[in-house]
Amino acid sequence: MKPFRVLALESSCDEFAGAVIEDGVEVLASVVASQAEIHSRYGGVVPEVASREHLRNLAPVLQGTLDAAGCGWEEIDAIAVTQGPGLGGSLLVGVNAAKAVAWARGLPLIPIHHIEGHLYANWLRPAREAWDDTPPPFPLVALVVSGGHTELFWITDHGQVERLGQTRDDAAGEAFDKVGRLLGLPFPGGPVIERVAREADAQTLAATEPFPRAWLRGSYDFSFSGLKTAVLHRTRAGEFDVPATAARFQEAVVDVLAAKTAAAADELGAACVIVAGGVAANGALREALAERCNVPVRVPPIRLCTDNAAMIGAAASYRREREAAALEFDVFSTSGPEVFSAGTR
Ligand code: KG4
Ligand code: ZN
Repeated sequence: MKPFRVLALESSCDEFAGAVIEDGVEVLASVVASQAEIHSRYGGVVPEVASREHLRNLAPVLQGTLDAAGCGWEEIDAIAVTQGPGLGGSLLVGVNAAKAVAWARGLPLIPIHHIEGHLYANWLRPAREAWDDTPPPFPLVALVVSGGHTELFWITDHGQVERLGQTRDDAAGEAFDKVGRLLGLPFPGGPVIERVAREADAQTLAATEPFPRAWLRGSYDFSFSGLKTAVLHRTRAGEFDVPATAARFQEAVVDVLAAKTAAAADELGAACVIVAGGVAANGALREALAERCNVPVRVPPIRLCTDNAAMIGAAASYRREREAAALEFDVFSTSGPEVFSAGTR
């Protein structure tokens, strides 16, 4: 059978990314133009700067993606793009580029929710080759942990998604980024906190009080703002060791995420657990989940955890029969109409 190739674009935050995905599994190309270095000067993403940079990166990334995939336009069967959530100006660049190429080439255009994209990184070959090349088995529990989202889903089949819980305040990645700033570390805080925490001296760590956890018992919801405030108080109190404080913070976040995910998998009888989003890159989280869950835990390789377009192309591949959009759709900068922000679909 002729392969089905999706050209995907992702521009929701400070990365402009392109990818070509074949049959929902093969990554023929995945190109990411990151602006992390530019935004680290400001201690966070500056929306206006992000959308302007996207405009500069658009044409080179698009052409670079096709070149890397060794594909001409005639070998592309559909276009996919992140519709939201994300920064409005950033999303507009990707969405309008996708509409333009879909219209010009007469190709179907498939808008994808960013969180659905993150989940589908687990269906790509690089994520499943450690599992005898099988896709994640349903039913499954999915933990999504990114800069904007912390959610637990129960997924029984493609498109059959129920949200079990979510953060009531900060997302896990947001907490990492804010605490990174409190500790005087560069942006984004997540990967830096992980690295610094590994350098904590054993004795100093033992002498450093653990932080309290917000268990929110009886629910699968999360809360990280109290933890962030606890770190703030400790840094204001004067003497504190950066690596040990980073380690104690990371341990508190990981403890709650892993415990609730494992509990959900047990309670509902999941066949596996999948993890997605930028914070899924965290080694301590991966270890804790593998240790505590009674079913296999699948996490994509790091380059597919943080924002990329390959995951958007994968998500679109599993939806292509169901919905090719008219070109009139708009971006949604906040949650969007779908289950990944609204319950069930
Ligand atoms: O999914 P992502 O790339 O972008 C969003 O959709 O938000 O996630 C970015 C978030 C940032 O908050 C970043 O600090 C966090 O993921 N992150 C990490 C690690 N790598 C990225 N957090 C903890 N440990 C890491 N190794
Ligand atoms: Zn993301």
